[in-house]
Amino acid sequence: SQTIFSGIQPTGIPHLGNYLGALRKWIFLQRDSPPDTNLIFCLVDLHALTLPQAPAQLLQWKRESLATLLAIGLDPGRCTVFEQSRVPAHTELMWLLSCGASMGMLNRMTQWKSKSGEAVKEATSVPALKLGLFSYPVLQAADILVHSATHVPVGEDQVQHLELTRTLAASFNHHYGPTFPIPQTILSPAKRIMSLRHPTTKMSKSAPDPKSRILLTDSPSTIQSKLASAVTDSIGGITYSPAERPGVSNLIEIYAHMSDRSDFDAVAAEFQDAGMNMKGLKEKVGEAVVVGLEPVRRVYERVVGESGYLDEIARKGAEKAKESAEGTLERVKRAVGLL
Ligand code: TYM
Repeated sequence: SQTIFSGIQPTGIPHLGNYLGALRKWIFLQRDSPPDTNLIFCLVDLHALTLPQAPAQLLQWKRESLATLLAIGLDPGRCTVFEQSRVPAHTELMWLLSCGASMGMLNRMTQWKSKSGEAVKEATSVPALKLGLFSYPVLQAADILVHSATHVPVGEDQVQHLELTRTLAASFNHHYGPTFPIPQTILSPAKRIMSLRHPTTKMSKSAPDPKSRILLTDSPSTIQSKLASAVTDSIGGITYSPAERPGVSNLIEIYAHMSDRSDFDAVAAEFQDAGMNMKGLKEKVGEAVVVGLEPVRRVYERVVGESGYLDEIARKGAEKAKESAEGTLERVKRAVGLL
């Protein structure tokens, strides 16, 4: 049987990029997988600490992120939904994998290169570079491997970390005998949703301009106003062409994904044939996003205030995740000679 594992950092309310690139796929997998498939979804709060976090803010984001996962439709009865820091097997396996992870390989991770580059720019000194940020992908590999995951649904920005995960798993299996399945990456069609303000960079939780992303809990008027201020271009008409028209093409993609269409050119042609201008396009995209996110927002508002309920879900999720991780960790310890 298969084990599907994925994670998200609780560093803010998830945005439309998270949703279309990953979270919505989790829901499809929950709906479509055979009953014997293990589905495990993790709030990676330890990964969040690789960049500075205010404690009270982190705690709030964890609650809001959990509420969002429930709001998009994850069923804690069907899936294991849990917080990484409650399951020490993740960090234990991380240490064991660290002992076989090459610094050269970690040094080539593009996320490390960009985030460490920013840290240096901001602090203008090398002590700004933290070991936790450097070893981030090893903890990610441990997340996946400690549950013996076979499939990992993520957006494109995680592909390199998953390649590293496979390398670490294969190298461990090679040295100590077959221990881990080699996990496969599942990429959804919406693998890279772009920023609304800088459409040549991906939509991200950390970009300074809040208008660059649509949060899953934004009100209809906020969604419309963020889209109204989306950066496009002054070329006439509506065409799909990511290289020449990144802003317009991103809007077309968002519209298509929200309305379950896959032919971006056909979508663009329909708008073009209808004689739509840029303002009209933005309103159409806004409507599709508002309608698609409406049920998410409704459930979110109901559950986010129910701390007792959320705590209970996190506690039960951790119990299930501990059970899932225990077997693998014990096999790993035996394999390396700790037991
Ligand atoms: P995170 O929290 O940055 O993002 C969660 C998921 O959303 C996807 N994503 C996007 N997809 C399309 N377009 C975008 N603009 C966009 N932005 C984000 C991400 O690819 C991801 O799938 N390192 C991971 C968390 C993690 C993890 C794991 C994932 C830790 N351990 C184990 C899978 C398996 C991260 O920072 O995701």
